[in-house]
Amino acid sequence: MELLTHERAFRSRADKTASGYRIALPSSRWGTQYVGTVTYLSGTPGAGPRTELDTASSEPLHPAAREVLLAALDQGYADPRRLHHPGRSARLLLDNARAVVAETLGVRTDEVSFTGSGTEAVHRGLLGLLRGSRRGRQVAHSPVEHAAVRHAVAWGGEPVEVPCDRAGRVHADDLTRAALAPEVGVVALQTANHEVGTVQPVGEVEPPDGVPLFTDACASMGRLPLPGGWAAAAGSAHKWGGPAGVGVLLVRKGARWRNPFPGDDRVDERVAGFENVPGALAAAAALQAVVAEREDVSARQRLLVDRIRAAVAEIPDTEVVGDPVDRLPHLVTCSFLYVDGEALVHALDRHGFGVASGSACAASTLEPSAVLAAMGVLTHGNVRVSLGRDTTEAEVDRFLAVLPGVVRDLRAEVGL
Ligand SMILES: Cc1ncc(COP(=O)(O)O)c(C=O)c1O
Repeated sequence: MELLTHERAFRSRADKTASGYRIALPSSRWGTQYVGTVTYLSGTPGAGPRTELDTASSEPLHPAAREVLLAALDQGYADPRRLHHPGRSARLLLDNARAVVAETLGVRTDEVSFTGSGTEAVHRGLLGLLRGSRRGRQVAHSPVEHAAVRHAVAWGGEPVEVPCDRAGRVHADDLTRAALAPEVGVVALQTANHEVGTVQPVGEVEPPDGVPLFTDACASMGRLPLPGGWAAAAGSAHKWGGPAGVGVLLVRKGARWRNPFPGDDRVDERVAGFENVPGALAAAAALQAVVAEREDVSARQRLLVDRIRAAVAEIPDTEVVGDPVDRLPHLVTCSFLYVDGEALVHALDRHGFGVASGSACAASTLEPSAVLAAMGVLTHGNVRVSLGRDTTEAEVDRFLAVLPGVVRDLRAEVGL
């Protein structure tokens, strides 16, 4: 059985509706069934080559994950708590996934849980530490944390923001000092920033005894080794080439973590709901594969990002933001004065390049990026470019050949 792509569905059995085109799911046994609608937002689908440069939002499925996922869909569907053969089979696969993630990340197997998303891993990790803390309800955190962290703190605690510098980095001493206040129960610091790539000094923060550190590693897991010093951490599989809808929650053995949400009678008491065994196994396979190839891929991506940084700096009235060296290997954010970020995203899309607005996480609310505002850099006219494991030099060169003209044209539209 094969799920048709947009274009093929369109050409073969497509059925135009008010909102787009239906996708067909053909099956020799069940006949073709329509399962959903998609909307073509702009341009002609399939026209011209496309280069997707938004892997920081979501990386395509790694080939290693695809293979495992397809096999596990058949082998891992059953309830892993059941004693019959399919149940034991699902349990074996789940245990296997946990063991692979633990070994790949260098943690203990009993420190790994699978959640329904990176966001859920953040919520459970952070709020579980807060619930277990014997100190106050305040959470000292950087101003550049992902919305998942900020929402969790707003829901279950009280935020204490510690400022960052212009590169988006919080100084470890500042966070350590903030954690001394008796009202502070938890410290939260991301491993690396998801919008500008700056790596944070997680291992250098020294909170007092009884104040655990939570690190949101969703942007970096698989790409950078885990830092030290955390009591709980979160990762997101679709950021490293695993399937969407799978998160990884790590809780250090001995950490005072208490389930902040209703319990459940599952294999793993830290999470709730029926386990996504195929997803967990595919996430583990992808993580193992990306860590194995990390040195080569990162080295290539670093050079390409350096090239983008240098070329963008040549365009008048631009700013390349984030730490130029101590950063995620695959992403860079640039601000273009007098240009609207969304207009830039649309224009580049028409030229076949998929990039995110720097304020991608807030794009639905049209709010300026809280990350960029906290850094004190331009909050408009931003794009975030993030490379895939297969992005080539030729694709980056094509992008850099197009970008200056696109910026010039957009500025000309506003009379500059
Ligand atoms: C730093 C960071 N934290 C958390 C998340 C949330 O992960 P998920 O998309 O799996 O819910 C993301 C994803 O954008 C992220 O970049």
